[in-house]
Amino acid sequence: MAILKIARMGHPVLLRRCDPVADPGAPEIRRLVADMMETMEDAPGVGLAAPQVYVPLRLFVFRVPDGRREADPEDTPLDNSVLINPEVELLTDDRVLRWEGCLSIPGLRAAVPRAPRIRYRGFDLEGRAVERIVSGFHAGVVQHEYDHLDGILYPMRMTDFRLFGFAEELARAASGERP
Ligand code: NI
Repeated sequence: MAILKIARMGHPVLLRRCDPVADPGAPEIRRLVADMMETMEDAPGVGLAAPQVYVPLRLFVFRVPDGRREADPEDTPLDNSVLINPEVELLTDDRVLRWEGCLSIPGLRAAVPRAPRIRYRGFDLEGRAVERIVSGFHAGVVQHEYDHLDGILYPMRMTDFRLFGFAEELARAASGERP
């Protein structure tokens, strides 16, 4: 396994529509996913899409730690997982603002409008179909990672740029250390 270099915003690999994975069970896909999980944990992050490690394929790894999920039975916790050739269906018309960061936009955070509830489908490393209906943090992470596969970074989804800043400053402001 290896820790991979992460592409930062401005690199064109983050702006393209990625190609489907021809064979989810291929050994090179298994190797890529193992490296991506190690890279995500090392960062640390809760999601990492293949284009973020310069591989323009439709797959991402993610996790939903117990401590990050919300009091909603559909915000299901998940250990390190992979979704290959995913599809995402937004199950509501309304959007909620969710605070997000991105390993390709280090140091910054923003409030991004996301659907509170989604259905997603895809395949795992054995080529088995995965389908889940999820809410809350889990739904937000999947929408963020899925967007990467279409060349969309979270600033492109933002509606209020006042809710965009350096994580350190935002944390300071939230703690009341600064008015
Ligand atoms: Ni990201």
